Amino acid sequence: MGAFESGLGLLGWVAFGMVLLLAGRGCHAQDFKGAIDHCTKDFEMDMDIVVSLKYGDFTERDPLIECFTECLMKKSGFMYDDYTYNKTLIIGFAGRYLEPEGAQAVYDNCIDRFGQTVCVTGFEMYQCIHETAVSEWVSSNF
Ligand SMILES: *[C@@H]1O[C@H](CO)[C@@H](O)[C@H](O)[C@H]1NC(C)=O
Repeated sequence: MGAFESGLGLLGWVAFGMVLLLAGRGCHAQDFKGAIDHCTKDFEMDMDIVVSLKYGDFTERDPLIECFTECLMKKSGFMYDDYTYNKTLIIGFAGRYLEPEGAQAVYDNCIDRFGQTVCVTGFEMYQCIHETAVSEWVSSNF
């Protein structure tokens, strides 16, 4: 079980690294890296925490971290200032590395995390997208 979990952890790294790589390419990719840079500065986040979040380690969590992830969701264009969301962007983003059914699953699974006005929503949405995307990626590639 331990080995299985660390195996998934490794795959998570690979999958999300791939997401970031793909997101950074192509002229129509939304600027996820730019969002990370912007929010890291705005919140004076410790780089160790940013890196952990990037690779799907959600063990560290406090109000600052929650607001940081909310900032990420907004700056990257997933969520607007009025807490509505861009479905096209979310499906498109997930669809860069998942089959269409997988991308739809990310959306369906995580959509009810939107539409509240607390930072906790941003955190849970980010965690949900990350975890669902990784598990969809794993189930379609292994
Ligand atoms: C939603 O995202 C898509 C894909 O990036 C973009 O083309 C569209 O302009 C966005 N919609 C709004 C209302 O910002």
